[in-house]
Amino acid sequence: MEPPCVHITTYGCQMNQLDAELVAEVLRASGARLAADADEADVLLFLTCSVRGHAEDRVFSNIGALKARKQREPDLIIGLLGCMAQQYGPALRRRAPLVDLVCAPGRLAELPDLIVEARRGRRPVALDPVRTEGGPETLAKADEALDRAEVRRPLCGSSPGQAYVVAVRGCDNFCSYCVVPHVRGPERSRAPSAILDEVRRLVGQGARQITLLGQAVNQYAAVEGGRRWDLADLLQAAAETPDLARLAFITNHPRAFDERLAAVFRNVSKVCSYLHMPAQSGSDAVLARMNRRYTAAEYLDRVAMVRQARPDVAVASDFIVGFPGETPADFEATMDLVRRARASAAFVFKYSPRPGTMAAERYPDDVPAEEKRRRHAALLALVEEISGEENAKFVGRRVRVFVEDLAPRPKLNERGRPGDRLNGGVQLRGRTPCNRIVVFDGPPCLVGAEVDVEVKHSSPLTLFGSIENPGARRA
Ligand code: 5AD
Ligand code: SF4
Repeated sequence: MEPPCVHITTYGCQMNQLDAELVAEVLRASGARLAADADEADVLLFLTCSVRGHAEDRVFSNIGALKARKQREPDLIIGLLGCMAQQYGPALRRRAPLVDLVCAPGRLAELPDLIVEARRGRRPVALDPVRTEGGPETLAKADEALDRAEVRRPLCGSSPGQAYVVAVRGCDNFCSYCVVPHVRGPERSRAPSAILDEVRRLVGQGARQITLLGQAVNQYAAVEGGRRWDLADLLQAAAETPDLARLAFITNHPRAFDERLAAVFRNVSKVCSYLHMPAQSGSDAVLARMNRRYTAAEYLDRVAMVRQARPDVAVASDFIVGFPGETPADFEATMDLVRRARASAAFVFKYSPRPGTMAAERYPDDVPAEEKRRRHAALLALVEEISGEENAKFVGRRVRVFVEDLAPRPKLNERGRPGDRLNGGVQLRGRTPCNRIVVFDGPPCLVGAEVDVEVKHSSPLTLFGSIENPGARRA
């Protein structure tokens, strides 16, 4: 059999982006070729997300659109991987009959074998032994296989100089609306030595910014070398890596945010001034039904704690609007929390009932779609207003920018008008340590490096600036 030529389409969170890199590595090691263009591939893999119904609908419709191609090319293999695979299992076939292969997040290391089976005309389904008898052992084996791929993977993320490293897999929080604990299994922290080796290796290959990942990364807990490690210990140790410029960590659960982590913001300068800590709601009644196990006041205490440790920390949050039973007063409490926390970035989602979750089983989805839309727009507008005010404070200041890529389209020039490029150069896009986007003219060779940029103008989502002597400031 010729080695397969594989194309991967990735949906969802950073954990999925990292999983896509692991899948690519596992496949490369098995001799497969990876195609940048889906038309060239004979195996199409979809790494899916189940967090909201909308994400699932997109996957079903993108796979459905392959019907004509599958008829023309009967040997084409379509694989559905990731959270939807675990969520629906063999039942997926009823809704997506074109799918040949189904593989859950914890079993991704087995993909080369699954592809061979699928090409032989079988229709393999590999699911996690999530939370079942005898599960932990099988889960540990599957994790080890993923770890082996993780330590081999080259630095290959979408933005040069930036890499993700998994710290915590799975989740045990069981927020009532959330499918993640059901599809990604119990919370397991990787060994500190494995994570620190991984960080050193990636930095050795040119990574300058590392982001540690976990659904609730600040619940990291490991025992190694006769001592306990929490996220504060891990960040401190990772920050010692020479040539590493920036260290970030997402996502944080407010309940587990403590003084020790706040102290890291005070003491470890490589840690970015950015705290992604989803509040989900500002109403205590809604938070209780969500099983978040904190109050709005406790959330604000955590924000105060981090701002005391480092005043310039940007707080980013996730919110769900239209959770069952959310009254106008509950929603106002959320708006109020955003104002008090001065959250300058937020991902706002309309509640979407997920099969198998406690909220879907217990509470009717009773906020009308139109009202969800209204609250969604109002909350985003408020966050944009705050972020506009915060961004304006940067005008006239010099900021350190990690250059991620070329700006996708012409942005405003120095005079604040869209259009003509300054100095005939290319526009670059990067981020401040507090995760604000900065656009400025500069040579493409700066991608993956840090430079100082003078901020000239701002908009709610972007800072516009310039560098005087780009060559001299190469990090
Ligand atoms: N409906 C809407 N949003 C959800 N999220 C998680 N589950 C749901 C759901 N059922 C949101 C939360 C979480 C983010 C990743 O997705 O805000 O923080
Ligand atoms: Fe889902 Fe809650 Fe776990 Fe986040 S902490 S992944 S919202 S269950």
